[in-house]
Amino acid sequence: MTDTTAGRFTGRTIIVTGAGSGIGRATATRIANEGGRVIATDVVAERLDALRSELEGFALETVVGDVAASETIDAIIAAAGDRIDGLANVAGIMDAFLPPDEVDDAMWERVFSVNVTGPMRLTRAVLPLMIAAGKGAVVNVASEAALKASAAGAAYTSSKHAIAGYTKSVAFFHGPQGIRANAVAPGAVATNIEAPMRSEYAARRVGPIMQTTIPPVAQPEQLASAITWLLSDDSANVNGAVLPSDGGWSVV
Ligand SMILES: NC(=O)c1ccc[n+]([C@@H]2O[C@H](COP(=O)([O-])OP(=O)(O)OC[C@H]3O[C@@H](n4cnc5c(N)ncnc54)[C@H](O)[C@@H]3O)[C@@H](O)[C@H]2O)c1
Repeated sequence: MTDTTAGRFTGRTIIVTGAGSGIGRATATRIANEGGRVIATDVVAERLDALRSELEGFALETVVGDVAASETIDAIIAAAGDRIDGLANVAGIMDAFLPPDEVDDAMWERVFSVNVTGPMRLTRAVLPLMIAAGKGAVVNVASEAALKASAAGAAYTSSKHAIAGYTKSVAFFHGPQGIRANAVAPGAVATNIEAPMRSEYAARRVGPIMQTTIPPVAQPEQLASAITWLLSDDSANVNGAVLPSDGGWSVV
């Protein structure tokens, strides 16, 4: 479906979170196929085992852990070693579509810890090496929910707006030091992400909008295409962008 670019990541070490499934898995696979050394991390060990089997012979190291936990960040940095060229913060969770008057503290805090705090801590951890090298690319996976309110519940929408803002902050402060930070905003993608609808009110409010506006579901490889472009030198002049990869949903 998508052509690879031979050798685009040769000699480079790229960290990919959420690499066990969906968009993260497609991203890790593409980087490995384009010559990169991948530090693949996920909270589900079996998924990383499966990825390792599939990518046997490629430069792949795996780190099992919750990206919201500081120990995981330390383990990822230790596995990467003294050179980190890119970071793709892909791991994320949904929020059961709970609207502002129904969202509970536990949901809000968990969604923010995985979708915002983990990526912030991992980015903060890779920045010193990238700044010392004078070069580095960070790509955060946001969502259509970073652009509009009708794609998810209050916690997820807020978390994805937050990661878009954080992306711009990294680009603004560290661009002059050679760092590029961009975000991709996927529309609907065929993955294993759990997206239960736990609010009757949200079903009535969101359902009709989604049914009439949402384009066909994309494949993870189509998102990996955008993510790897932003990780690579092909996008050298792009910094602080939030790129929709959503079949045009954002313009409806
Ligand atoms: N699938 C979609 O329609 C869609 C749309 C917009 C945005 N996104 C975003 O894309 C990203 C990837 O999601 P996906 O659709 O590929 O889902 P997915 O569930 O198929 O893959 C996500 C992976 O992240 C891992 N993960 C979840 N929580 C984690 C944690 N705390 N620590 C480490 N790993 C963790 C999961 O085990 C899983 O393997 C997410 O940030 C999601 O919000 C997805």
